[in-house]
Amino acid sequence: MTLRVGVIGTGIMGADHAAILNAHVPGAEVTVLADTDVPRAQAVADGIPGARVLADAHALITSDDVDAVLVASSDATHVEYVLACLEVGKPVLCEKPLAPTSAECARVVEAESALVGGGDPLVSVGFMRRFDPGYVELKDLLGGGALGVALMVHSTGRSVSAVLGSSEFTVTGSAIHDFDIVPWLLDSPVVEVAWLAPRQSPDVTDRQDPQLMLLRTGDGVLSTVDVFLNARYGYDVRCEIVGSRSTASLSEPHRIERAEALTQGHAYAADWRPRFADAYRLQNQAWVGSLVRGERSPLPTARDGLQAALVAEAVIESMHSGGDFVRVSPPT
Ligand SMILES: NC(=O)c1ccc[n+]([C@@H]2O[C@H](COP(=O)([O-])OP(=O)(O)OC[C@H]3O[C@@H](n4cnc5c(N)ncnc54)[C@H](O)[C@@H]3O)[C@@H](O)[C@H]2O)c1
Repeated sequence: MTLRVGVIGTGIMGADHAAILNAHVPGAEVTVLADTDVPRAQAVADGIPGARVLADAHALITSDDVDAVLVASSDATHVEYVLACLEVGKPVLCEKPLAPTSAECARVVEAESALVGGGDPLVSVGFMRRFDPGYVELKDLLGGGALGVALMVHSTGRSVSAVLGSSEFTVTGSAIHDFDIVPWLLDSPVVEVAWLAPRQSPDVTDRQDPQLMLLRTGDGVLSTVDVFLNARYGYDVRCEIVGSRSTASLSEPHRIERAEALTQGHAYAADWRPRFADAYRLQNQAWVGSLVRGERSPLPTARDGLQAALVAEAVIESMHSGGDFVRVSPPT
């Protein structure tokens, strides 16, 4: 069976997802692309045989030649399109965050549960780090007992530069990945958080940059999350689990080291796409494969999206209250 996929949003991520689905996902066919910026969508469609373009994403969702939808438009538009997919009963893979607020995420959870009850979820969320081979190996090492018991996790995210935003947007748009991956690694939910700010980078005026967050999970592990979006030197994601017997860290990003001009070293990616290329591909293959086989999607669910949004809101509350520890509200 071929799964005909419609992609909403053809910016950096939508274009990447469409290309991955077209070239690397057996069983997937990208049939329709929609973006308010039609020439942008057309430029992406030009590289995908048979794909057509619509200006209206709702028309894509109801199209007869779309079996499943991938939402990669801007964060604030996600909920509208995910709810529209639920209305017509089509599976949807929504880029992170499911929505900028927990109230919107809760609307999706409620709408989905009213539709499918305890059956297979229709909504999957693109927390693709769960498919990154390094993170998978870290989780397996911890789960297999090789590290002893986990005591701390250190999670670091740096990028070259960020589009204009706010301190809060660093939390909901970037650190949201950490709010999913840390509890996933530990198999324990985040129950308490704090937000702290070091000295401000002198080049940055739109937001506090860098930021440091503390996450306490239900198992008592204390994790640090530091995010520096205008770090200049490269895209760099690190993660270390400190266990009672040993520690383990991701060794990405490099597969190649070069020696030249009296130095030895490796290059950094300019953004997230090369670093997480395997993760996006494996995620999309897992999503399409499960739908083609009629199985439950193995991707994170709307509830996972809601859980991460609740952590983000607690972090922002701490940001606004001078760094106090804040309890994470349980999902209703
Ligand atoms: N998983 C990851 O690692 C990762 C990385 C980057 C971005 N993202 C997420 O992917 C999504 C897209 O990010 P991006 O970097 O591609 O942004 P982008 O700005 O490059 O692209 C967004 C696209 O959405 C289109 N758009 C805006 N409003 C729309 C609407 N109402 N209907 C249809 N199209 C609309 C814009 O015209 C644009 O082409 C965001 O939600 C972002 O948070 C995820």
